[in-house]
Amino acid sequence: MDRPLLVNRLAFDAEAERRELVAGLLRDPACIAPKYFYDELGCALYGAICRLPEYYPTRTEIALFQSRRLEIAKAIGHGRQFVDLGAGDCCKAKGWLPFLEPARYVAVDIAMHEIAAALEKLAPDFPALELVGVATDFSRALELDGILSDTPALFFYPGSSIGNFTPAEATAFLAHVHRYCLARPGSSLLIGVDGKKEKSLLDAAYDDALGVTASFNRNALRHVNARFGLGFDVSGFAHVGFYNEAQGRIEMHLESVRDQSVHLDGSERRFRPGDRIHTENSYKYTPAEFEAVLAGAGFGSVRRWDAEGVAYSVFLAS
Ligand code: AVJ
Repeated sequence: MDRPLLVNRLAFDAEAERRELVAGLLRDPACIAPKYFYDELGCALYGAICRLPEYYPTRTEIALFQSRRLEIAKAIGHGRQFVDLGAGDCCKAKGWLPFLEPARYVAVDIAMHEIAAALEKLAPDFPALELVGVATDFSRALELDGILSDTPALFFYPGSSIGNFTPAEATAFLAHVHRYCLARPGSSLLIGVDGKKEKSLLDAAYDDALGVTASFNRNALRHVNARFGLGFDVSGFAHVGFYNEAQGRIEMHLESVRDQSVHLDGSERRFRPGDRIHTENSYKYTPAEFEAVLAGAGFGSVRRWDAEGVAYSVFLAS
């Protein structure tokens, strides 16, 4: 057995990726997809964000998982293949493995370097566990055919990453997960979802005093420069992160601090002072709103656990 088995499903179509990125940058307003946050430095910066006092989601979810571990594990059932969507450093999954005792752990992430390293580290602690790492951009499509076994699965999607999709996209994505569940009776989805809350708390979580989120956001420019040979002046853009109450979402933008332009293949894109590049949405849901998303995706049975003190919920759906 190859252990860990690594599968690279990232479209090695660099040209198509470049065209998509350039098209976004030529749009009005310009945009860069949030997947460009997560190069090696970006993953490290995200790890730092998770330790910031203002960024409550990670520690809230960890505390909720810890206090409800046995109850949730019992509801999931024993020995499911554990499919970790956005596994990153695999730390969140690691806490579940002794309780769920899966025979297979499938770590899915866009950052191959991160899951490869994390699985190597995990391997000696779980010698009997079959380890599979899949590098794929599941923001485009969740393609796990040929990777999932026929056994019942637990899809693990923690951290409120579902918020990067619009509600309609989230429903479509989860409908896909639901189809994988239907084909494997006994399967379920365990998902963490950030709740709507006071604007001041949300604003602070995405615009912290140390400026780590600002660095994380601006790193997208550094990443696309390195990856596609673009000429963004990283210091020419300021971080903007705030809760848009009307839309129910966090928005992050990079705002040009001066008049500047960037070469994008055949064209020149000008950014005047105040012009923005939209880099991320992070949707927040009331419990009822998210239950409607799950129902729309086909999940008929849903259990929910709420965090104490701050609006954050975990759902187990089948
Ligand atoms: C990884 C998508 C869950 O939206 O809270 C953190 C990313 N962006 N700070 C989030 C993020 C700015 C994070 N997710």
